[in-house]
Amino acid sequence: MRPEIIGEKTKVKVLSGKRTYIFFDNAASTPALRRVKEKLDQVLPYYSNVERGIGYKSFVSTELFEEAREKVREFLDVPESHTVIFTKNTTEAINKLARRMKEYIGNGKVLTTEMEHHSNLLPWLKYYDTVVVPVDSHGRLDLNRIEDTLKKESGKIKLVSVSGASNVTGFPNPIYEIGEIAHRYGALFSVDGAQLVPHKRVYVSRGIDFLSFSAHKFYAPFGSGALVARSEFFSDGVPESVGGGTVKFVSLDEVIWADLPEREEAGTPVILGAVALAEAMRAFEEWGMENLERREEELHRELYRVLSSFDRIEILGGERRPGDFPVISFTVKGASPYLISSVLSFEYAIGVRTGCFCAQPYVKKLMGVSREETERVKENLIEGKLPGLGAIRTSLSFYNTVEEIEVLKQALEEALSRREFHYKYEPHLKAFVPENFKFSLPF
Ligand SMILES: Cc1ncc(COP(=O)(O)O)c(C=O)c1O
Repeated sequence: MRPEIIGEKTKVKVLSGKRTYIFFDNAASTPALRRVKEKLDQVLPYYSNVERGIGYKSFVSTELFEEAREKVREFLDVPESHTVIFTKNTTEAINKLARRMKEYIGNGKVLTTEMEHHSNLLPWLKYYDTVVVPVDSHGRLDLNRIEDTLKKESGKIKLVSVSGASNVTGFPNPIYEIGEIAHRYGALFSVDGAQLVPHKRVYVSRGIDFLSFSAHKFYAPFGSGALVARSEFFSDGVPESVGGGTVKFVSLDEVIWADLPEREEAGTPVILGAVALAEAMRAFEEWGMENLERREEELHRELYRVLSSFDRIEILGGERRPGDFPVISFTVKGASPYLISSVLSFEYAIGVRTGCFCAQPYVKKLMGVSREETERVKENLIEGKLPGLGAIRTSLSFYNTVEEIEVLKQALEEALSRREFHYKYEPHLKAFVPENFKFSLPF
């Protein structure tokens, strides 16, 4: 699969010259597939706006855009009762859902969990009385807690929204069981699929009312995402966002709204992004998701073995279970995660992520951060300083290699044995940079 990845041989500038980049930040965004780019190269000469254009290129673009929607339906086993709305990303999809559901939920409550990315937390906190179910001491969800909460709230919770998997620990959630519990207590069920769709086949038909995900985490980083939603909640009334493309008829006194999904895709949609996403899905179908899963499990096991062999490394969430996704966040006793990750980057060309990964409540819980420490971190963040607190996240994909993990091991051994770091904080890059290193663009 590796040759299928664009940039898999890219060399980048490091302190000692140039090295081939090792990309261990796939949970943030994956590289594009070569065939996705080839598809776009093929389509671009025919690119035009969709829907009402009269001309060959417009017909082609409309056809490809709708074909992409059909591919998403097929890939995610979306039933007839649901619509696929293209969005910019997961965050936009969840915000759209949260705003729209106000009409149906009103003052009813929403249940979410402590392991959520801010994108599946803040939209609910903004619009609803939200119950946040805590995770256990390892950072895993306990289904009994979800059920107990639903029982205790006796019908007040109208929607349950959980992540398919955590972007911090890679812990997957048993979504179909959670959906079944939610429905039993009369609540709708939404899944934040940002970290699930790239790792495991999802079947919307198995009790998911709403699913959000991003194409840039699915090897098609061209600006699209999607909200798969039960049509009945989006087909009536005034669309959530209004403007061009959302109407059948407009006069100054009257508007007749278009049907789904157009009525929910205001303005020119992300045409090429949708085409790119569909092509990545075709690639996954051809390769077989089970093969990719197996490969990711092997790499995950190796990464865990390597990281857990260091005395000073503490893995957030501790032990791994079969089926966990290849995302491991860790801290290093006595060392700043920001400094260590800079050494990985500027000396070994290893790209990771540092901080709280847009999941501050979860990371703080996993790190056992006290109230006082939280206050200190808050002050730092308000003043625009480095928070001082956080972890390093390594997130793998099927195209990574055991050899790359070996380089990480050597880099960590060397960095952890070092007494002095000749680095300075560079606010522009939001990172520590070697004192004698000048960052520049590659072209
Ligand atoms: C679990 C989870 N949910 C939501 C998001 C938000 O995705 P996006 O930035 O594509 O909107 C992310 C991004 O990292 C994520 O990991």
